[in-house]
Order: sequence, then C-alpha cells, then structure tokens
Amino acid sequence: MKRLMRLRASQHLRDLCAETEFNRAQLIQPFFVVEGLNQTEPIPGLRGNVRHNIPSALKQIEKDLADGVTQFLLFPVPSMKKDSGFDHQSTRETISQIRKQFGNSLCLWIDTCLCSYTTHGHCAVLDEKGIKLDETLEELARSAVAFAEAGADGISPSDMMDGRVGRIRSALDENGFNLVPVMSYSTKFASNFYGPFRNAADSAPQFGDRRHYQLDVRNRSGAIAASVRCAEEGADLLMVKPGLTSLDLIRPIHERTGLQCGAYQVSGEFGGLSVLADQGLIKFDEALLETWHVFKRAGAQYIITYGARYAKSLGIGR
Ligand code: PBG
Repeated sequence: MKRLMRLRASQHLRDLCAETEFNRAQLIQPFFVVEGLNQTEPIPGLRGNVRHNIPSALKQIEKDLADGVTQFLLFPVPSMKKDSGFDHQSTRETISQIRKQFGNSLCLWIDTCLCSYTTHGHCAVLDEKGIKLDETLEELARSAVAFAEAGADGISPSDMMDGRVGRIRSALDENGFNLVPVMSYSTKFASNFYGPFRNAADSAPQFGDRRHYQLDVRNRSGAIAASVRCAEEGADLLMVKPGLTSLDLIRPIHERTGLQCGAYQVSGEFGGLSVLADQGLIKFDEALLETWHVFKRAGAQYIITYGARYAKSLGIGR
C-alpha cells in the first residue's frame, strides 16, 4: 500500500527527507536606534525587541553576535523631523560606532527611506501636488552615500519610489562604493502588517496612506514587475514584503530575474505570533520556526525576522 506516512514515522526519517535546511547566516536581525533616547523603550507586540540608543544597541549586538547572529538591518530614527535636507549625522555616528566596536564580525545593512525623517511620515519629499520624485531620489541617494561613508556594508531601500535603485546605485558608484550591495525591498505591498514597526520607527503617515507608492495586493503582475525593474536598475538582492502574504511571488521573481529573493517577516506577522503566545494560544518558538521553514520552502534565500536572535536556541546551525 502506498503510505506517505511511512517516511514521517521517526525524527531520523523526517530529517532525512527535509528539504528546507538553512543556517543562521541567512537570517537578518532588524534593530532600531533612536537618536537621543535616554533609555531603551519596549516595542508593543515585538517580543525581544526594543528601541535602542547607541550604547544599548552596542550591547545588544554583542549579545546577538554571541548567539550567532551575523546579519543586521539598522533602522535609524532621527529625533528632529524635517521636510527636506535631511541630516544623517546621528546615523553616521551609529554606524561608525558599530563598525569601530565590531569590525567585520557582522554584516550591517541600513534601511534607506525617508518616513522616519519627515514631519508627515511619508517616504518622500512632498509638495501640495504630492510626491516630488526627483528631490526624493536625490535625498535617498545622499543618504545611501552617507551610510556607505560611515561604514555600512549594504544599502536597503524600502521607500518604493520609482527609480530609486538606479539612482542609489549610480551615487554609490560615483563615490567609490561600487562594492557596496543594494538589497532592495523590491516587491513591497501597502499593508496593514507594518503596524508595530511604525510605532517603533515613529514613521506612521500623518495623513493618507502609502498606496500611491507601495504595491496593491490584488496585483500579481505589478508585484513581479516591481522586482524585475529593481533587478534591471542594478539591485543585488531582491525581497518580498510582507513575507507570508507574498509567498507565491518568491520563486517567480527568482526565476524571472536570476537574482536571489528574500522574505521580510514584518512586524505585524512576527507580532501576531508574539501576541498569540502571550495569550497562551501557541508555542512561540515552534510557531516561529514553522514560518521560517515555510519561507524557505517558498524559495526565500534569506529571511529578515525580528526573531533572528532566537535561531541558535531554536537549533538552527551555522
Ligand atoms: C519604511 C519601512 C517600513 C517597514 C520597513 N521599512 C514601514 C512602511 O513602509 O510603512 C516595515 C517593516 C515591518 O513592519 O517590520 N518604509
């Protein structure tokens, strides 16, 4: 008799047949550094994650490195909001202190967007008519160069403005950073699942929403086209976001572009697990691991997750 259950009858057999083995080097840990913060602040919904100042971020990274995390994604949160002419001094300071203390033992990506910098919380420079695209791209390119100068390993644009990857790539190249890669948030949907993040990054739009620049969940071809375009503009790595609501797109994007595509397990997805676990309704660790295996099964090369620092204790090897 055909018995599919036969190969699931022992842990040895299940491990023999597992198709989604991966390692900690493919998990990226986000963290928030808020300029001028006196002490760390909890982030509602994001278990194990807080808003940091520079000294507390350094301590957290030290701990994370000991727990085998090597990939980090910094979200800089400036204290002064402006509408243009953004200042990157505090982010430069964060990056260079991390670099000074930890050298090359970590890989440091910097989220590159304007929503934490602007008074209105949109990811662009605006005027009465809406997005001022050229000024926005200029600001993004300037940020990318500032971050690379301070010692960032990679730039990760999350703004979804048309043309940002091309503009950032040429600015990096012109300034001698031709080896700094761009990990683009290439297929990023307008989503309800960014809620906990927007509190942490102080980046909620003060009016309207982001549907003009972020993708429409109803649209599959547009979602793939956005990643294809980033690839054409010179992105090195692609990404879908939110991860769980974009599983069907990961392989098609990889196949269409030949580039590796990761998944961002966003704050609302991770927060959902945290809240269910807080209510005693699921086992947090097992549920988290389950979602990672699903991202891998769907073809994700890497996973950005607020739980990367738990990977070692979950038994994910090097
Ligand atoms: C900034 C940005 C957002 C996220 C990453 N970069 C929020 C947004 O677009 O509103 C979301 C990450 C998360 O929810 O974990 N543009």
